[in-house]
Amino acid sequence: MKFLFVVLACVAFSEALFRVPLQRVKSMRQQLAEKGVHLALSDPALKYEPYKSLASAVVDPMANYADISYYGSITIGTPPQTFQVLFDTGSANLWVDSVYCNTQACNAHTKFNSTKSSTYSSTTKTFYISYGTGSLYGIFGYDSVNVSGIVIKKQIFGLSTNEPGQTFLQAQFDGILGLSYPSIAAGQATPVMDNMMQQGLLQDNLFAFYLSRNGQQGSEVAFGGVDSTKYNSQIYWSPVTSQTYWQIEIKGFSINNQETGWCSQGCQAIVDTGTSFLTCPQQYMGYLMQAIGAQADQFGGYYVNCNANNLPTLSFNINGVNFPLPPSAYILVQNQGGYPYCQVAIQSTYLTSQNSQPLWILGDVFLKEYYSVYDRANNQVGFAQAV
Ligand SMILES: *[C@@H]1O[C@H](CO)[C@@H](O)[C@H](O)[C@H]1NC(C)=O
Ligand SMILES: *[C@@H]1O[C@H](CO)[C@@H](O)[C@H](O)[C@H]1NC(C)=O
Repeated sequence: MKFLFVVLACVAFSEALFRVPLQRVKSMRQQLAEKGVHLALSDPALKYEPYKSLASAVVDPMANYADISYYGSITIGTPPQTFQVLFDTGSANLWVDSVYCNTQACNAHTKFNSTKSSTYSSTTKTFYISYGTGSLYGIFGYDSVNVSGIVIKKQIFGLSTNEPGQTFLQAQFDGILGLSYPSIAAGQATPVMDNMMQQGLLQDNLFAFYLSRNGQQGSEVAFGGVDSTKYNSQIYWSPVTSQTYWQIEIKGFSINNQETGWCSQGCQAIVDTGTSFLTCPQQYMGYLMQAIGAQADQFGGYYVNCNANNLPTLSFNINGVNFPLPPSAYILVQNQGGYPYCQVAIQSTYLTSQNSQPLWILGDVFLKEYYSVYDRANNQVGFAQAV
């Protein structure tokens, strides 16, 4: 009953819920594809593909890969300077472009100017962050950060000084707001969520994502509570297994209700809003594509015949509950020169956990189907059927 009371109390305090509307944008991968440049899909931990992969890229003006990233607005400093940031549960630092950076990528974005902020304080501490194959250099500073009305004082954040290889040139966002655990933060910088908790700014120490399907608006990240208008089932919880990424255990993986046995000893997965696709460990990719009846394309991805009517439903068992992923979730229908092209939104990865176990990545393909809640107070992740 105590638990029930707590749950009801948090729903009743709806004014304590801070919502940040998120915009959908075509990812860099898709924007480049529209220019005829295809990035290899072979290194998928990556959200931020660097230009150096372009050297080996294949040019095909017809093909059209769609994937999406989600960003929203925050302000930094006094008076406020506004930035579009990617809300990323797969990293832990906040950084934005700054006037200290004059690369093409920085000049294409809004840059933070510390001299214009009366609440800014500088440091001499530099950092380097690598996102898969993308990377940036910067310097840390402190300032007030306003996330949809949650005002965090003395938040440490990165000001970019160099983005080699123009990694972020194509990005629609000016920075990244990482929501992972502090253990993976570059420079041991205290993440935004940790300061929100320490400064007592949240009703409940959790945040939750709704990522809309089929090009609809309404995506959001909510802080301090869950937004019950965005899901329509119970929330099913699973404990965090490593406080690094939002890492959880997968207890089983089925294809058309047939248990594959791949996760009979337990698989590890990270829940990552900054990864577009569903990502499976390299060792299972071949079997999985065979089960789907997918063909490899020339760009390192996979596609299916759009007339196929017997595509399987994939299903993850997470803490005893099955989370099905129907073909409509993992097949992206593209227009390729006037014809439909059915891309499989699944990639493989060699990414491993800190103790070297292969990792699945439950990216946006999964998170569009399931509203996701990231509970720092109890170190658990919740999923519910998204509206
Ligand atoms: C930063 O702001 C200061 C004070 O307004 C201004 O003098 C300076 O030109 C700005 N720097 C850049 C690179 O915009
Ligand atoms: C924080 O941002 C909200 C809008 O998201 C605004 O209404 C509020 O005035 C801001 N607070 C401060 C202290 O800047």
